Amino acid sequence: MGQAHARAQARAGQAQAGQARTAMWNPFANMATLPGSAITIVRGEGSTVFDADGRAYLDALASLWYCNVGYGRAELAEAAAAQMRQIAGFQVFEYYTNPPAEALCQRIADLAPVPGSKVFLTPGGGSDAVDTAGKLARAYWRAAGEPGRQVIISRSHAYHGMNAYGTSLGGIPLLTEAFSPLVGQVEQVPWDEPAALEKTIEMIGDSRVAAFFCEPVIGAGGVYPPPDGYLRAVREICRRHDVLFVADEVITGFGRTGAWFASGRYGLQPDLITTAKGLSSGYLPIGAVIAGPRVTEPFWRPGSAEVFRHGYTYSGHPAAAAVALANLDLIEREQLIGRVAALEPVLASALAPLASHRLVAEVRAGTGLLAAVEITEEARAADPAIGQRIVLAVRARGVITRLLRGIALQVSPPFVITEPEIARIAEAFAGALDEIAAG
Ligand SMILES: Cc1ncc(COP(=O)(O)O)c(C=O)c1O
Repeated sequence: MGQAHARAQARAGQAQAGQARTAMWNPFANMATLPGSAITIVRGEGSTVFDADGRAYLDALASLWYCNVGYGRAELAEAAAAQMRQIAGFQVFEYYTNPPAEALCQRIADLAPVPGSKVFLTPGGGSDAVDTAGKLARAYWRAAGEPGRQVIISRSHAYHGMNAYGTSLGGIPLLTEAFSPLVGQVEQVPWDEPAALEKTIEMIGDSRVAAFFCEPVIGAGGVYPPPDGYLRAVREICRRHDVLFVADEVITGFGRTGAWFASGRYGLQPDLITTAKGLSSGYLPIGAVIAGPRVTEPFWRPGSAEVFRHGYTYSGHPAAAAVALANLDLIEREQLIGRVAALEPVLASALAPLASHRLVAEVRAGTGLLAAVEITEEARAADPAIGQRIVLAVRARGVITRLLRGIALQVSPPFVITEPEIARIAEAFAGALDEIAAG
């Protein structure tokens, strides 16, 4: 054993002696400080989760923007169990298919904002859907006879997941710096300037640009609803330059903005839509890329020899697809999307008074159950840890939130949240802000 290795082992041993023992390496966590202070969540019911000590937390996040139907839905567990008794998993490469995967694709295609869409199922979260869409955009242009179209454009503040394509397209520097460059031929434009998109396309040259990736409402970058007219303008620019428009609806898909898709709400008619999270409300991981007729044509045209050589072991997983179908049933039966639309102004007006707090720069709300409370630059400069301190003070009041891009507190509750629960979120935020402001 080398001396450096021995020293590292000794240091690790000393560090562990003072910490709770764990082998779990958490995403986005400082593992030098986390062991011993992690919250162990064991159960959930409605919009509330419980830790191992029985403490209840109102979940203002729907976990990570996904538990839209709320926790503790036995019928989704039963859908998984019933399918697993039949056959839990079987591949869908080449010749094989299965009834839940077929039914789910048809169901998604029927809900999709672009008639005649086809659906490519992905096995995990949104990152798989984003990588699939990135590859499909390039494969499309090659199949369409323009292989030079390779560049993909994304926006500042964008979050497209953590696989290689998503990381490369990300517009949050802290999340990309350690890894870049990954996928080549990506460009970034300011999140709110249609003219910058057009200029960039013209600079690169139409014949080289494959696609523009766009979250209709920016999520993890800080919850930015689209500026008035922005989406219509960028959609039109993409049409004018024959660039594929890809709506990343991993957060907004399946109801979060009060419509099945934000693309429907904003009349976007995307060429590709990426989805995951709300498709199953996270009861099992599954995602989908929805491809409009333009993109499917070279691959589905009778007699075509073009094959999209892409897929994952668990694409079309029968148990996950069965759960997603049961989740969509539940959303329809309980009219949860109408509920989101009805709660949109309730959430916005509950949070609105926070805007006048001296630690708050802005409250962004008004697109379904998506909102953020941004901390002032001045407060963050004076105390770089202030955001995390507010998150913990909110948690001490029994509500879970988190910090987006280091600047804003996330609010994206389950669709089943009640009006009194929304009021509790606002109260917890107000109390925590007062406590931190008081020093
Ligand atoms: C818009 C968007 N795209 C992609 C992703 C990546 O999804 P996942 O973390 O499920 O892989 C996310 C995750 O939050 C997202 O918000």
